[in-house]
Amino acid sequence: MATMMEDVPVHLRGNGRPESVEHSLSNLTVKGSLPPELDGRYIRTGANPFTGYSDHPFAGDGMVHGIRISDGKAEWYRNRFVQTPFITNPDINAADPAVMMDMTMSKANTHVMGHAGRLLVMEEAHFPYVIDGDMNTVGPLDFDGVLTSSFTAHPKICPETGEMLAFGASVIPPHLRYYRISADGKMVHVEDITIGGPVMMHDFNITRNHVIFMDLPAVFDMQKAMTGDGMPIGWDENYPSRFGVMPRDGNDSQVKWFELNPCYVFHPMNSYEEGDKIILDVLRYDYVWRDSAIDMPPAALWRFTLDLTTGQSHEQQLDDVATEFPRVAESLVGLKHRYGYAMRLDDRDQIGDSISSRGGIRKYDCETGATADIDYGPGRTGGEPVFVPSANSKAEDDGYLMTYVYDENKDASEFVIMDAASMDNEPIATVDLPRIPNGFHGSWTDSSVAD
Ligand SMILES: [Fe+2]
Repeated sequence: MATMMEDVPVHLRGNGRPESVEHSLSNLTVKGSLPPELDGRYIRTGANPFTGYSDHPFAGDGMVHGIRISDGKAEWYRNRFVQTPFITNPDINAADPAVMMDMTMSKANTHVMGHAGRLLVMEEAHFPYVIDGDMNTVGPLDFDGVLTSSFTAHPKICPETGEMLAFGASVIPPHLRYYRISADGKMVHVEDITIGGPVMMHDFNITRNHVIFMDLPAVFDMQKAMTGDGMPIGWDENYPSRFGVMPRDGNDSQVKWFELNPCYVFHPMNSYEEGDKIILDVLRYDYVWRDSAIDMPPAALWRFTLDLTTGQSHEQQLDDVATEFPRVAESLVGLKHRYGYAMRLDDRDQIGDSISSRGGIRKYDCETGATADIDYGPGRTGGEPVFVPSANSKAEDDGYLMTYVYDENKDASEFVIMDAASMDNEPIATVDLPRIPNGFHGSWTDSSVAD
């Protein structure tokens, strides 16, 4: 009997429907011209259930989608399930407590980053997975046994030192652990940090001298987690919203906590220091998951200022358009940025009786307050915009924005490269690809990271 659409969860409909085929394609069709200085891979992961079903948007198995660009050519496109135990042993019982505590049981579905010659595919409750430059899985990474608990999907790489700053949040104590990994990929600092409880801490922030933890009221309910009765995480009105600032080489006793108005932040855009102040540009929600698993108001760009001298915090809304997945140039992570870019979420076209999605990229000039938008056009939606500087880039926004765009008019996707300076709707180049389901984060990784 055919499956009724109303039986299919919303996150598995449209371009959320899973892809089961692993493609290896060359001879790709390119429109426009691929910038000749690009030599590397754009790789993005997402939640793509191997069985075809997942009961939550975050629960699907990681599938990486990589495109290899060099010499102005698109050499190949490959999509691969990350070979976690959920793929290599599909009969595994994910509800078994022993399985739940096994740190190799990652879904590898949230982010891809290159560091110290390794391509890492990450999910926030387990070890990272390493893949090679051909998109094959190497295996889980525990940093020579030093990593024994969860590792975030959003580590930050310092552009000045090359070190990777990271954390792991856990439903069981210690609820927060800080990690510093040297530029050559060694875990050199592990520090337990005291927070108020088992919160969902998705991302964090670095500056030249500090890291900033986000201890916010999305709190795990252990009772629900154990019984499977409802979503195990929700909004707790009584849990304070706090950001904690710690020196990069610091310890738990050195964390300075700043209380904020109730809020949630999945993704900061960037943060930096100005004298004794920490400036954080973030996509702020008033709350998340207050009444249900889909109870989430739109996020907009805010600036939080934390004064290390006075202990005071200041919050200012910078924009009112709904966006997510913000990025800045990798060379400015933790340093003062002028420009940020985010995925637009708010556009819909009514076509007859149906609603057609329409996406784009919003660019923020955080110095002047100006914004500019790329519109992908009717029925076209894209993911997180990743900025890559052009050769001999002379200005911060002199470069490219890249992502996968899904076109529902042809039920297929494209790799697109847009001009970040002009924000022209017309791409510099597009590469025709098969349908790439909606996903989460990714990166451009230069060929120096993986051959
Ligand atoms: Fe994320």
